[in-house]
Amino acid sequence: MKENYFLIGLLVLFFLSCDQQKEPVFKSEDLALIPQPQKLTLNPGSFQFTEATVFVISDSLQSVTTAFRNKFKSSAGWNLEIQQQAPAANYVQFTVDKNLKTEAYSLTVTSEFIDIKAASSAGFRYALETLRQLLPVHIEQKQVGEKDSFYIPNLAIEDAPCFKWRGLMLDVSRHFFEKDYILKTIDRLAMLKMNTLHLHLVDDQGWRIEIKKYPKLTEVGAFRVNQEDKHWNARSENNSDENGTYGGFYTQEDIKEIVAYATQRGITVVPEIEMPAHVMSAIASYPFLSCTQQSIGVPSGGVWPITEIYCPGKETTFKFLEEVLSEVMPLFPSKYIHVGGDEATKTNWETCPDCQRRMKEEHLVDTDELQSYFMKRMEQFLEANDKVLIGWDEILEGGLPPSATVMSWRGTKGGWEASKAGHDVIMTPENPMYFNFYQGNPDVEPLAFDAMNTLEQVYDFSPVIDSMSVSQKNHVLGAQANLWSEYITTQDDSEYMIFPRITALAEVLWSANSKPGWEDYTSRLQRFLPRLDALGVNYSRSVYNVEATAERDTVFGGIRLALASEMPQASVLYALDNEELNANAKVYNEPFTIDSTTTLTAAVFENGAPAGRVLSKTFNFHKAAGATVTLVEQPHRNYRGAGGATLVNVLRGSKNFHDGQWLGWLATPVTLLIDLNEVKEFSKVRIGVLENQGAGIYFPSDFKVSVSKDSINYATVGQLEHLFKANGASTLKTFTVDTKVQKAQFIKVEITTYIPENKRGVFTFLDEILVE
Ligand code: ACM
Ligand code: ZN
Repeated sequence: MKENYFLIGLLVLFFLSCDQQKEPVFKSEDLALIPQPQKLTLNPGSFQFTEATVFVISDSLQSVTTAFRNKFKSSAGWNLEIQQQAPAANYVQFTVDKNLKTEAYSLTVTSEFIDIKAASSAGFRYALETLRQLLPVHIEQKQVGEKDSFYIPNLAIEDAPCFKWRGLMLDVSRHFFEKDYILKTIDRLAMLKMNTLHLHLVDDQGWRIEIKKYPKLTEVGAFRVNQEDKHWNARSENNSDENGTYGGFYTQEDIKEIVAYATQRGITVVPEIEMPAHVMSAIASYPFLSCTQQSIGVPSGGVWPITEIYCPGKETTFKFLEEVLSEVMPLFPSKYIHVGGDEATKTNWETCPDCQRRMKEEHLVDTDELQSYFMKRMEQFLEANDKVLIGWDEILEGGLPPSATVMSWRGTKGGWEASKAGHDVIMTPENPMYFNFYQGNPDVEPLAFDAMNTLEQVYDFSPVIDSMSVSQKNHVLGAQANLWSEYITTQDDSEYMIFPRITALAEVLWSANSKPGWEDYTSRLQRFLPRLDALGVNYSRSVYNVEATAERDTVFGGIRLALASEMPQASVLYALDNEELNANAKVYNEPFTIDSTTTLTAAVFENGAPAGRVLSKTFNFHKAAGATVTLVEQPHRNYRGAGGATLVNVLRGSKNFHDGQWLGWLATPVTLLIDLNEVKEFSKVRIGVLENQGAGIYFPSDFKVSVSKDSINYATVGQLEHLFKANGASTLKTFTVDTKVQKAQFIKVEITTYIPENKRGVFTFLDEILVE
């Protein structure tokens, strides 16, 4: 009997918890809005979305509610209805208020109804994205699940963006990305109240948009020889007769679909048709476009400098470009067309008779002015078609076209100058707007461009510069993150580089100087990440990784270790040697010293588990630690560290080969003489090396170890050979030369590096010689 009551009690509890979901009590620290609204007042109580909630909106605006109502359809199975008249309660009312700014909105949530006011569809959409982020994460789910917890807090929000241009650029040329990924990216930009997607459709390594008048652009120019196994900068040149198998392109129908999808979500798609450089894919398709008119292949990887460029001496080049743009412009409602303009090495223009004739006729003093002539002609053509030209900041050289908008990428200087001259500018400085740069320690990150833009650097960015006048500041339309795709080969890679950095940029552009600050943002981000999980975004958790920095401790001897993570709220735990790294491990508070071989493990812990990677590092106080090392050949002046001592300082180099722990030689062989200061017994010599073929750094091919008692007569005691292999990655490795048991004071290490046929020299990089 007793047992039965107990069971009934359990059942009652069960039904209560399932059916009678209690109205939650919201605190401001529960909210995870990104970007943070300009003004938010939280009030007591909440509104609950149910199957009976209706949308009160005029016919002409109904489509702005589609994406939001679809979320309830997929996660709850509800078809929330639209009505013209408000019922007594449980509705969302949309009111046009022309007093508000174009993208602004006001949002009032009460227990009875929700009121949204905006001047345009943009404002209504942003209000709905705010409501979405206020709803529990399971609103993002694709299967029907729990339906009784769709509460949002009563509140009042007044909101508007600070900057007009809130963009992301995808480079779909260096690697091709399917249409579906572009659509997904549009959804995600809309979620963050971003409004511009710039598609880099043309570059040397691939032409990605169908042009009906010039079919070879995609038959030839969209495909290249597949050399995806090699580092981008170690790929060999292709002949024009080789068959391309890597590539792809968007048909004009695909583009129409992308643009329609984006328009529905308030995103403007800006196409970039590069010129005069970054166009080898076009020249491979139509050799008449270059000065020399010679056949070339579509390159599979890096080309530098870029000398195969369009010829502005020939009218046929302009006819081609105008015909291409005439097909591009009607596909994109965007007022702006981006025509590139960056990184042209104009040496062919110096010797081309057509270019020289053009310069004479037009009284152009140099090839910069010839490029300016080129860009001005394109501007006139675009202007005649009611479009505005955007170019990279190189278009300042030789004279800006009169109404051009400038995208400043080589820092913000170009943007400063162009705004001074009265031009609109968009800030995309490499630091920190290039999302193809690393966001964390390269040793544990996927291969990326060899530079760093951390999440915090993105959050701290300001598109306007203090030294600008008010009028200059007014010319700054906004900013944009650029994801160049040399090293981004898959959708997963792309998401990893974009997220979470794009959330920081969204707040920079929406909230600007009134943004709440790094600590506030990161605490919201922490609560926002489960939404990205629900959406299946492969975001990076690098901010949760622990970095260990080590330096020789001159006071105590040994090395001093400092641990840090980018997340300000993070609790870093660590363990030494055989201690277990778990939730009860030591809490890191301040740097500590070690003076014997030690293995360190460390991680940021959240809810009892590692929130990022577990760092594991062994500091090996081997028998040559602190020995005297003579470098017979001098390393290259950029990679000298602290001389021979660097090779026996216990500290290991990272994939950032400028970190001071690497010695790099262009010479081969490299000879090292090690004096252990006394006779010691050892049985192996281990050599720490780096390979980064794209940077010209190769693993050695031969290692030879000899020993001596008198530093004069050496006997070889061990050798190792390594066969050359193409390697697209950046790789750290320690090679072991087995010496059998030796007793000696002097060791000679000779390292030879094989030079591939197409190279004049290669680098050998060493960080440590371990004697054990
Ligand atoms: C650029 O990064 N070349 C615009
Ligand atoms: Zn020419």
